[in-house]
Amino acid sequence: MQQKTSTIFKSQFEEEVFQGLSEYPKHLSSKYFYDERGDKLFQDIMDMPEYYLTDCEFEILSTYKEEIARLFSAGTEEFNLVELGAGDGKKTKILLRYFSEQRINFTYLPIDISQNALDQLEKSVGEELPKVPVQTQQGTYFETLESINRLDHTKKVILFLGSNIGNLLHPQAIEFLKHIQELMQAGDLLFIGFDQKKHPQTILDAYNDAAGITEAFNKNVLARINKELDGNFDLDKFLHWEVYDPETGTAKSYLVAKESQTVRIEKLQLTVTFKPWETIHTEISQKYDNETVCWLAEKAGLQVETEFGDPQNQYKNYIFKKK
Ligand code: AVJ
Repeated sequence: MQQKTSTIFKSQFEEEVFQGLSEYPKHLSSKYFYDERGDKLFQDIMDMPEYYLTDCEFEILSTYKEEIARLFSAGTEEFNLVELGAGDGKKTKILLRYFSEQRINFTYLPIDISQNALDQLEKSVGEELPKVPVQTQQGTYFETLESINRLDHTKKVILFLGSNIGNLLHPQAIEFLKHIQELMQAGDLLFIGFDQKKHPQTILDAYNDAAGITEAFNKNVLARINKELDGNFDLDKFLHWEVYDPETGTAKSYLVAKESQTVRIEKLQLTVTFKPWETIHTEISQKYDNETVCWLAEKAGLQVETEFGDPQNQYKNYIFKKK
């Protein structure tokens, strides 16, 4: 039972936390994992042996960089390499380095909501690959893509790596891809990573590591509520729990209350009660197969041009073009 006085929300975070903890079953969005500490925890996740996604994509980019370069530069003198949610660019640098060595004519345009992330990326690319022209673009994906289109009609290759699309349920993924499709011109490409269905235990291990990094990452949304909204969640009173449904390919993360408890979130004037073993759903990490990827592309007005997999096909990158 929640008490509510008239609350004016000062941010989307406030509003979504209020909503998600007032509903049954409770939920919080995984987009709120990422503050400075969450970014660091995600870096640590990418370095974990269990988190195979990063290694697989790294291997794909290394193995196929020559063919990727050929496809990206086909039919054009130059292209813009636009990356959505660039992060630290560790994987992208494989391509940047190769393109630069091959004297391919391109400009790297990383888009991120965080100016801090962009500043760091620009600095590291500048130091490691001084010949690569970089133009950082701060903002949301779609607004930034629109402004790039207004200024420049050069062929665009859009990178969306890391199976980040997996945080979206299929209907949302279709909407997301449709929106990108609308911002693509004929000849533009979308290079996108989709984690594949595989042995369920491999997936469970990737999202429930022994060292507890994923647990800390999942609980970081509660830590943020404590810090930013003056909450008093006791993080030790929640379990990190991961499930994977091999039929649908959906991995889901939960925080499970270990005992009955009451949490106060002062800035929302909200009191939240938990029954023992009550859940907060925090993330989905969807896994795919070729049929599903083709279906999503088709629904969004895109088609698969090529796919690249690691030797075990645990993970794939696809090149989509406009239909
Ligand atoms: C960044 C959304 C691709 O779902 O695999 C990693 C985030 N969550 N471990 C994923 C994540 C738990 C990751 N994505």
